[in-house]
Amino acid sequence: MDATKLRRAIARTWLAPVAAFPKRLVRVARYDTKLLKVSARWLVTSREHHNYTYDLTWLSKSHLAWLVSVVCDIPVKQVKRYIQEIEGDEQLRRHIEQTTRNAARRGLADRQVRYARRVGWYAIVRARRPEHVVETGADKGLGSCVLAAALLRNAAEGHPGRVTSLDINPEAGYLARTAPWSDVVDLVIGDSIAAIEALDRPVDLFLHDSDHSRTHERREFDAVEPKLAPGAMLLTDNVTVTNVLADHAERTGRRFLAYRETPINHWYPGDGIGVAW
Ligand SMILES: C[S@@+](CC[C@H](N)C(=O)[O-])C[C@H]1O[C@@H](n2cnc3c(N)ncnc32)[C@H](O)[C@@H]1O
Repeated sequence: MDATKLRRAIARTWLAPVAAFPKRLVRVARYDTKLLKVSARWLVTSREHHNYTYDLTWLSKSHLAWLVSVVCDIPVKQVKRYIQEIEGDEQLRRHIEQTTRNAARRGLADRQVRYARRVGWYAIVRARRPEHVVETGADKGLGSCVLAAALLRNAAEGHPGRVTSLDINPEAGYLARTAPWSDVVDLVIGDSIAAIEALDRPVDLFLHDSDHSRTHERREFDAVEPKLAPGAMLLTDNVTVTNVLADHAERTGRRFLAYRETPINHWYPGDGIGVAW
């Protein structure tokens, strides 16, 4: 019997998994070793303990550009220009590096500026030119700065707008407390549900990125619904964990799409962007 026939014969018996075991072991060991090396390097080189930052793979960024192109109905070339715009914003990059270097919590933050999926938030704001963006969960203020940078560019082109960034932590948003970005950021400290209920201007773009429990995420989308401007867009940063925004879109007659990012050289599998419009 030749080797092929023997392999086929074994594949039909209980011996098959045993015969395939060495090959399977090598595959999984290679994968796990790579992950272990990346994790060990990160433990030594990074200071972050939550809300990790990283860059996206080229492919992941390309898929993100296509997501924005579809949900904003603009050519993907235009989205790619927006992404290049934020990545090439040296003033913002220098500001984040310097502020991080001097921040009270500098021991828990990396100085390298890595926006990950936030470049998608930027492109959406550039494409839709919202007058009022609401971001729940500001943390250091990295997303707030990215959103503010997009709003400042829109304003320079004759489409002013502001972002309300909500966080329960009084120390949050320190990156977004410097001009010119602070000129378009309203930082509100308090629980996001109460803060959403107190909003006195229509919301054109809403981003959930605070308490990622299913219950809290659902409460935020319920609370913001009566505050939305006609045709408003809803985003969630929690789409790899819950189906809350997809369910909300179904209930309210919206379309929904989800994107999952792929970080470069990071043990963390990445978050994503859920969009309802
Ligand atoms: C994932 S971080 C936000 C990340 C940020 N959007 C960015 O782009 O880096 C989550 C933040 O939500 C805040 N948070 C948690 N529960 C909250 C609540 N009930 N209301 C408002 N903010 C809350 C936390 O203090 C934390 O800073």
